[in-house]
Amino acid sequence: MAKQVTTETIRKFYETGKKITMLTCYDYSTGKMLDASGIDCVLVGDSLAMVALGYDTTHKIGIDEMKIFTQAVARGVHRAFTIVDMPFMSYHTSIEDAAKNAGELIRCGAKAVKIEGGNDFIISVVKHLTNIGIPVVAHLGFTPQFMHALGGYKIQGKNFDKTMRILEQAKELEKAGAFMLVLEMVPSEAAEFITKNINIPTIGIGAGVNTSGQVLVIDDILGKYSNFTPKFARKYADICTTTESAIKNYINDVENSTFPCEDEIFKLEKDESEKLNDHSYTYNK
Ligand code: KIV
Repeated sequence: MAKQVTTETIRKFYETGKKITMLTCYDYSTGKMLDASGIDCVLVGDSLAMVALGYDTTHKIGIDEMKIFTQAVARGVHRAFTIVDMPFMSYHTSIEDAAKNAGELIRCGAKAVKIEGGNDFIISVVKHLTNIGIPVVAHLGFTPQFMHALGGYKIQGKNFDKTMRILEQAKELEKAGAFMLVLEMVPSEAAEFITKNINIPTIGIGAGVNTSGQVLVIDDILGKYSNFTPKFARKYADICTTTESAIKNYINDVENSTFPCEDEIFKLEKDESEKLNDHSYTYNK
């Protein structure tokens, strides 16, 4: 098996300038493909609430569901570094709750947890999780769990003062022990400025090219989530069209009795088959 990616490997990538690659993942078979393709990190993002479960926001998923999806991904991913989102309200009630829930995700196969925001309470959570040996990825800029407070899907850090506020929070999160920072939907100049002024890798999503790495939602790059595609998501495949076309071909084959064919069925031995044929004359319906 290829060498496992660890926090140390990620640090080395950051120090040598190798871009860190990350995609979201929600299931076993996709996890296997991501691992085989050579991705550095997989993120069991709470975006799964929307793209895999059909909810309208990420608020609607809880720790129990995140545990199930984490276990599925962990069964398929053995080389890449698996990060799991702590869902809404799983780290906000107390540091004890945060530790308990983060610990359960680690038991399910997470190597690190990701938490959103940078206020004083979040910083104390990051400090505690780091102290008990749970690596933490921070998340600033647009933070979907704060969507209602932010007034919807809005670009963050849109001027000098707001960029400086994100930078201050990033520095505090770094000091508290966060080993990596996701920057979502911030202007590219702001992301570059923040990246240059902290000492941990930044992973951008809608944050331009000058971050230490990039993350996207896998359903977006595969063209699988058709509700909407954000401006920053590049589509590398069109799974929706491919899948719909395959399903239509299947329906057509079933309706025309061209599926299954001889190669796709099990057969009785000839003499057993003949017995059935003989019996059919005497069997009384
Ligand atoms: O939930 C998620 O998929 C995320 C990424 C978009 C960064 O947090």
